[in-house]
Amino acid sequence: MPSSTAPVVQPITPSEGSKINFGATITGMDIENLTDSNFNLIRTALFENQVLVFKNQSHVSPRAQFNLTNRFDPLATSYGHGKVVDAKRSILHPDLKTIPHQPQVQVIGNGFVSEYEGLKNITLRHPHHRTFHATTVPAEDDLSHTRFYRWHIDAALYGLAPPIVTTLLAVRVPKGRRQICRYDDGTGDELDVPLGTTAFASSYTTYDILSEEDKEFARTTKVEYAPHPYVWMSGAKSRSDGLGMVSEGKEIPLEQLPEIDESKIQVLPLCWKNPVTGKLALQVHPSAVRKLHLKDGTVIDDLAEVRDTIHRLQRPGIAPERVYAHDWEEGDFVLFHNRGVLHSVVGAFAEDEVRLFRQCNVAATEFPLGPEHVVA
Ligand SMILES: [Fe+2]
Repeated sequence: MPSSTAPVVQPITPSEGSKINFGATITGMDIENLTDSNFNLIRTALFENQVLVFKNQSHVSPRAQFNLTNRFDPLATSYGHGKVVDAKRSILHPDLKTIPHQPQVQVIGNGFVSEYEGLKNITLRHPHHRTFHATTVPAEDDLSHTRFYRWHIDAALYGLAPPIVTTLLAVRVPKGRRQICRYDDGTGDELDVPLGTTAFASSYTTYDILSEEDKEFARTTKVEYAPHPYVWMSGAKSRSDGLGMVSEGKEIPLEQLPEIDESKIQVLPLCWKNPVTGKLALQVHPSAVRKLHLKDGTVIDDLAEVRDTIHRLQRPGIAPERVYAHDWEEGDFVLFHNRGVLHSVVGAFAEDEVRLFRQCNVAATEFPLGPEHVVA
């Protein structure tokens, strides 16, 4: 893509009925050969808009994808989840393949691919909510209706600091139909989405629409994540809206997890401060939370209560009118602020619908800024 035209940042126009206030497209930018001034423009645009879409980027190499991702934190080097411990039980295991010559970049998708970037004869599997949710869409509705698979942050949440950004490149996208995404939580909420969309919700909006009392609670509470969270949660099931887990006592007991290093257990602020705008995001991985630390020193360790509290705070932020469901086209390169949005895979493909994406994020060298941090 020629870089001679000046870059333009264009906020995404919300579709009818939508209230989204984040997301932008960038044109006139060559990711493969990024200048310092263009990177600075991207950085500011990212922290102001949270999700950036670059069109027609099929030519971008895995190296350039890593370089852009890494430029947000140049000293960071390892993939966002590090080396996945206990891959057999971790819920992350089946979804990722690593590019041999650029190991920080993962291939995800659906179907059989004979060759891609040094990977041979790989079978990719797009997750289906059936595998993860406590209840599912009835089989007769499965083609036309779907669910949010899992609202999340890309983060190990044990040891490694949450990546600042994630990049996604759509290499192959099956020609899509649309589906109705059901929340199935008694509200009747549903959202018309493109097949295989990635859904985003702004954690700044989630904070902004809280009551003053809840904002105060959010600013002063810390979240403790489970050790080895993706193994820990592997026996449990998700809520129907994909926003956290149901509490049925199915988590793997701590003594059955891989060895726990107490120093790696993370207690993070419930609100993370944007390094450019200073705004607060209510940013929590709802499936991995285990305890809440309140400002008076009380620790809430009743898992059902912890999850209900977090769900009550986060649910308004994923209301249908607040979700941006990206309609993927081949060559779309999406850069999103992993510390300012939640995202979720949506939908299900047939086996012969081949979809190939490249994903990259790197564990950060610093933890997110808390609400007390003063942004210069
Ligand atoms: Fe993700």
